[in-house]
Amino acid sequence: MTAVDGLPFLRACRREPTDFTPIWLMRQAGRYLPEYRDLRARHGFLDLCKTPDAAAEITLQPVRRLGVDAAILFADILLPLEAMGAELVFAAGDGPVFPHPVRSREAAAALTPLDDAAAEERLGHVYEALRRVRRALAGRVPVIGFGGTPWTLASYLVEGGGSKQFAHLLGWSYRDPEGLALLLDRLADTSLAYLRGQLRAGAQAIQLFDTWGGILDQERYERLAVPPVLKILRGLRAAAPDRPIIYYLHGGSHLLPALARLPVDVLSVDWRLPLSTVRRALAAAGSGIGVLQGNLDPAALLAPIPEIERRVVELLAEGSGGGHVVNLGHGILPTTPVENARAFVECAQRLSASVPAAAR
Ligand code: CP3
Repeated sequence: MTAVDGLPFLRACRREPTDFTPIWLMRQAGRYLPEYRDLRARHGFLDLCKTPDAAAEITLQPVRRLGVDAAILFADILLPLEAMGAELVFAAGDGPVFPHPVRSREAAAALTPLDDAAAEERLGHVYEALRRVRRALAGRVPVIGFGGTPWTLASYLVEGGGSKQFAHLLGWSYRDPEGLALLLDRLADTSLAYLRGQLRAGAQAIQLFDTWGGILDQERYERLAVPPVLKILRGLRAAAPDRPIIYYLHGGSHLLPALARLPVDVLSVDWRLPLSTVRRALAAAGSGIGVLQGNLDPAALLAPIPEIERRVVELLAEGSGGGHVVNLGHGILPTTPVENARAFVECAQRLSASVPAAAR
């Protein structure tokens, strides 16, 4: 029996005391797991995403293997873009490709924004996978739903795939900021409908992934990227006021004063700043965000297990003095040995349990 009732991950997101510091790993469902690679050898990535049985099974794999405190639905942030009519291809060994990138107001206007009914119709497979995961977990482990922020979604849609320089997106942002804002607003409406569907299907928390917000300076981040994010956040709050919202930003240490004002429960950060520094920056900006998620460098899981354990001690100390959910600072690397991921989870749970909640 645990001393405190309720799921530790959800309690920690709400800054309630827990018996230990909960942990899950970004990209925990995926290529470092042999059982995922088995399935992937026989099926395309998008086919797996669109088959509720497979997506549910892949979601559960890391829960069984690692004993994490939250499941994250196996899906992708790019699925709603395909549902809006943008052709999306995952070629073998490559990342995502949009063969017809959206680079003008006309192309943006040709995308179909999804309302709740259209999201149910076109992305119902995601919701069905979520319902199956909820049934299989039977309340033992909570399930996180997720989406990308409009800026990060646009970075793939406008560039036509992954990018190093983001010349099309950034060029558009200087040439025609109002036109780009229309696209971002459209992506916000669709994202909100998509995420509301995930809440209806049983997602117990929502994480927004902002992988590329950090390419902007603070002033342009606030002007371009934040307004569509606020639209989503306000809509999520209205739909489910008590489900925690986690905001993940990669490479955005310089944006902390802007992030401090977001109406979210948890801020998830990369490894570039220690958690104590992030916490101080948020406090200095008068932030209401009391919980941090992160932030081990995913490459640290490639080290021998005693080194991982040493890093966990450090990470738990850094995370103390406020709410903390242990995680990586970005997705787990495909070359991570499963036993190292398992050791990270086990160490974080065991070592944090030996410290009383009040002292964490
Ligand atoms: O976290 C999880 O385990 C849940 C599932 C999940 C996936 N993608 C599955 C996936 C989540 C939460 C994502 C988020 C995602 N997708 C982001 C934001 C987080 C981040 O990592 O920055 C982004 C930018 C994408 C877009 C995307 N999907 C890219 C760039 C790629 C290719 C390169 C890569 O990182 O894997 C994908 C493919 C993808 N998404 C895979 C998985 C398991 C690998 C597909 C394969 O098996 O080949």
